[in-house]
Amino acid sequence: MKVLLVGSGAREHIIAEQLSKSSELYSIMPKKHPGIASLSEETLVHDPTDSAVVGQWAKEKGVALVFVSPDGLLEKGVTDTFSDLGIPVASPSKSAARIEWDKSYARNLMKAKEIPGCPRLKVVSSLEEAREFVSELGEVAVKPIGLTGGKGVKISGEHLNSEEEILGYCSKLIEQDGSVLIEERLEGEEFTLQAFCDGNGLALMPPVQDHKRAFEGDEGPNTGGMGSYSTGKLLPFMEQKDLDDAKGIMQRTLMEMKNEGNPFTGILYGQFMLTRDGVKVIEFNARFGDPEAMNVLILLGTELSEVFLSMANGKLCPVSFSNECTVVKYLVPEGYPLEGKADQPVTVDEEGLWNKGVKLYLGSVYEKEGVTYTTTSRTAALVSKAETRQEAENAVESAISLVSGPLWHRKDIGTDELISRRMEHARRLKQ
Ligand SMILES: Nc1ncnc2c1ncn2[C@@H]1O[C@H](COP(=O)(O)OP(=O)(O)O)[C@@H](O)[C@H]1O
Ligand SMILES: [Mg+2]
Repeated sequence: MKVLLVGSGAREHIIAEQLSKSSELYSIMPKKHPGIASLSEETLVHDPTDSAVVGQWAKEKGVALVFVSPDGLLEKGVTDTFSDLGIPVASPSKSAARIEWDKSYARNLMKAKEIPGCPRLKVVSSLEEAREFVSELGEVAVKPIGLTGGKGVKISGEHLNSEEEILGYCSKLIEQDGSVLIEERLEGEEFTLQAFCDGNGLALMPPVQDHKRAFEGDEGPNTGGMGSYSTGKLLPFMEQKDLDDAKGIMQRTLMEMKNEGNPFTGILYGQFMLTRDGVKVIEFNARFGDPEAMNVLILLGTELSEVFLSMANGKLCPVSFSNECTVVKYLVPEGYPLEGKADQPVTVDEEGLWNKGVKLYLGSVYEKEGVTYTTTSRTAALVSKAETRQEAENAVESAISLVSGPLWHRKDIGTDELISRRMEHARRLKQ
């Protein structure tokens, strides 16, 4: 079967690897990603939103299935380019991806259908309304309605240090977008739950915890995600009930979208927070997480192309995962996230990685004359799976020196110290 993957990055690199195991891979990407290109029969380096060109190319190649990966392309309706041509697609339509690109749509759906796990919130379009609601809530999260690459949300007490700063940010967003989402500030441990969806039902992937802050000890500015870990069916601070509640919320959301005539086919990503009042929804995404895709896809026991085909056909097949622990750490350019140093050459000791059993997936890089270069964004992810989290973490750390270039990473992700802190936090909240 010929399968077309649209998008590039470390998340797409592991998707490409999984797809190419049992099908002929074709890829479309805006800049040449050497990892995905080398796994592909053919690659089109072109703007994926140029629907005439990419649609024609897919037809010419005779692809039987398409997967569009990144949020930005889902928002622009790249899935629809292919479904309009009658090609089966395993990613959400522009309209279904609205669950991610329009936070007011997602929250209004939750409110209107009384889906559990929704914090107190309001979408406001005037400073007066904002002032009133902020004074009612006290501690808040201020959220732009649209996509911001994970860099738009500001939290009182963290990024906003007075009511004046909160309202200043609200007013800036109202001016820019016409409205802003204000939510009660929640406290707890966050986790990610991803699921394969066929418009009707879902197949869950193991839960994962990501690390958004740039520096060790969860300090510093937000990033796209510095790394993540998983520990089988549950994370160390979770109970089975938490997982069941989160799954129930995702199932309800899918059902309500279907009932509205907006069925969701693709990867539904639930970002949850385990609070003293149970599981709450932080947001939904319409795609795999990056890094979380790597934690789960490395454990996949079913052929990914088979799963995608069954989703596209509306009849999800059973999906299995091995029960191992995983650790992912991102190597990022010097100066990241504020001013990542681009155009620096990076070399990888492939044989050394092979010997250690650690996988490497290339992120935001490009290739020129056979040399791989950094961009301003995350460079490469190292991924390991093992019986225990400690083994997986040690393996990743021992492989860091096999990647050369002006890069750095967070040493604490997946370590006992950080995880005991998280468990202690969750325990304190529950008391
Ligand atoms: N209501 C909330 N209370 C506390 N923290 C929040 C809340 N909403 C979001 N956050 C924090 O902000 C981060 C980003 O928010 P999110 O809604 O996921 O937006 P995005 O990922 O699109 O930037 C979350 O990962 C979480 O850490
Ligand atoms: Mg988020």
